[in-house]
Amino acid sequence: MAIIFNKEKKTFSLHTAKTTYQLKIGNLDYVNHLYYGATIRDDDLSYLIRRYDRGFSGNPYDSLKERTFSLDAQPQEFTTQQQGDFRISSIEVQNSDGSFSFNGRYRSHSIYKGPFTLEGLPVPFATENDTVDTLELVIEDSITNIQVTLLYSVFEEADIIMRAARVHNAGKDTVHLKRIMSVCMDYMNGSGMDLISLPGRYGQERQVERQPLTHHVHKIRSGRGISSHQQNPFVALAESEANEDYGSCYGFALMYSGSFVAEAELDQYDQCRLVMGINDRQFSYAVRPGEDFDTPAVLMTYTHKGLTGMSRRYHDFFRNNLNRSKFIKDVRRPVLINTWEAAFFDFDDKKLVEIAKSARDMGVEMVVMDDGWFGKRDDDNSGLGDWYVNENKIKCGLHELVRQINDLGMKFGIWFEPEMVSEDSDLFRAHPDWVMAIPGRHAVRSRNQLVLDVGRKEVQDYLISSVNSILDSANIYYVKWDINRAITDLWSNALAGEDQGEVSHRYVLGLYRIMDGIIKTHPDIMFEGCAGGGGRLDPAMLTYFVQYWSSDNTKPLDNLKLHYGSSFLYPVCTMGAHVSEASPMVPIETKAAIAMCGTFGYELDATKLKKKEIRTCKKMSDLYHKYYDLNFFGDYYRLSDPFTPVNLVAWETVAKDKSEALVTVVTVRLTVNGPQEYIKCKGLDRDRHYRVEGDGEGHIMSGMALMHAGIPVPREVPEFTSFLYHLKAVDR
Ligand code: DGJ
Repeated sequence: MAIIFNKEKKTFSLHTAKTTYQLKIGNLDYVNHLYYGATIRDDDLSYLIRRYDRGFSGNPYDSLKERTFSLDAQPQEFTTQQQGDFRISSIEVQNSDGSFSFNGRYRSHSIYKGPFTLEGLPVPFATENDTVDTLELVIEDSITNIQVTLLYSVFEEADIIMRAARVHNAGKDTVHLKRIMSVCMDYMNGSGMDLISLPGRYGQERQVERQPLTHHVHKIRSGRGISSHQQNPFVALAESEANEDYGSCYGFALMYSGSFVAEAELDQYDQCRLVMGINDRQFSYAVRPGEDFDTPAVLMTYTHKGLTGMSRRYHDFFRNNLNRSKFIKDVRRPVLINTWEAAFFDFDDKKLVEIAKSARDMGVEMVVMDDGWFGKRDDDNSGLGDWYVNENKIKCGLHELVRQINDLGMKFGIWFEPEMVSEDSDLFRAHPDWVMAIPGRHAVRSRNQLVLDVGRKEVQDYLISSVNSILDSANIYYVKWDINRAITDLWSNALAGEDQGEVSHRYVLGLYRIMDGIIKTHPDIMFEGCAGGGGRLDPAMLTYFVQYWSSDNTKPLDNLKLHYGSSFLYPVCTMGAHVSEASPMVPIETKAAIAMCGTFGYELDATKLKKKEIRTCKKMSDLYHKYYDLNFFGDYYRLSDPFTPVNLVAWETVAKDKSEALVTVVTVRLTVNGPQEYIKCKGLDRDRHYRVEGDGEGHIMSGMALMHAGIPVPREVPEFTSFLYHLKAVDR
């Protein structure tokens, strides 16, 4: 059992293979957080809490004038509201009498096997190799009878603890949630910690920032209705000395695809509190008597093995526990070519077949028809919402087009953007009230499109049936599900005025219902997510999509940074990456080597390539297959940081059994008459010998030599040369 309750000490110890998390029913039945870190078994760690008379930090009434008992100076599992704890909070409610107050104390708990589930929200599943136990601990405000169940599922072998909170109104009056976080994590001493996040922008997603915690609230957020290009719902706290290989790191990844917030506060006493959950901006949710409200889940991990160790936990967990699609492990994903950068809106059925014919010689196995095949869609002014085939473009009909592509021995994929509507569309003309727009105001346009009120059931049902009818009308193998704007004008015509604070969250719940109705009902189709690139890449989306288009920016050198940043959380097999015509000075081989740091494909007009280029592409497509298992299932190592002024950017994937590895090196800068540089491998078996393919000489070197002395990288090469060193163990 991964969760031990010590009745006498009133402690709960949650054990993963290598970590322990401990909490305790403390004085006055407040629930204290005691520890999260390397395994310490079941010792009661409440001795760590030291109490002093802290000026201006008040004392709860029933502490009976005990001036050393202040919630402001104690580590807690979940916060109270207006009980003298002035730090950032995990809950804010407005009660029916108008007061803002919540005083949650231990009421009950239960422990059971298997992970918790959440109403309408995605959570990971347990595989047959996982031992998972769950603690549900209920705290209650005895005046309002508002209960919060703190949920903890311990994925023992994976070293992941999943947390969430469920609010239950056991009282007689409606309460309004103004803020409800999924996780509250208190550190008794947070000095010397850094906050790592993945900020970015359109075309430059998931860059990496690391900053020391200072005495204020650090806030990472999206208020855009999508998890966003600007911030990813992931943060890490790492001790300042932590590097790739050593040091304590805590990861927090929120399974949510809408507006979110993560806040970290280093307080006056150097205590640190981190909270993470749904963004409370424009949020107010009524929980009526008898009703529940579930927060999304947060996946937490701890390791003292540095940033690589933290990323490894997430990579393995995302590959094993998020998505049951056969395209995760059982069916190999094909090399695809996408028409977008080849033709934009300007294509017809003949052009697609021509592209397919040329692409076949490049080793391409699937053609994806991107935006522009439906409704009246010749540019981005019209057509969204009308999910029926535009027969001016696809003259032979979709079924026949797919047949022709299939006859070439290739698979067929198609693009949708279900949540959006153009004002010039049949859907908008029929249902103008299905759009998010605040009464009396014009809705904000973005890419000339408006947002459907996806929280509304009839909108969900329309989208499920119209998208499904296309999917069922032809032999479709793949879908790219896009969204090309952020969400504004939070208003639903289906809700009363006082309930409009629910719109943003209801949108996300509605979206998950639509995806359940389309994606989960088509297990033989491979779904890739997209949001004008990676603007809604998050762990929740990966329960639906096996991969996510990482960025609209296909410039290979920019992608070095993008892949580096993404790799903090996301494994290679989830990151859509294509070879395109961008950056003509970079050789195709290098573009392909970089795209193999994701789910390889092409984004160009194959009919315009020269014969030699086609041959090069074929060679690279073959390499994608040759290294598929290594890249998709191996252990990933960042070998250099492209955000620093390096000459070489390098990364490595190592097979789990260490029998082979692939080291990729890209020359990003050539220094005239510069030094010889060496790439030191990681993760190899120190005692085995590996043949180094790709160094031109086939050296056989020990794991020790390759890791400690490294591989000399040729320097007399043209700019932007790449090297793929394939290391194959030869002695066992
Ligand atoms: C944004 C996507 O990221 C592109 O790849 C393409 O699908 C366009 N949308 C189509 O509108």
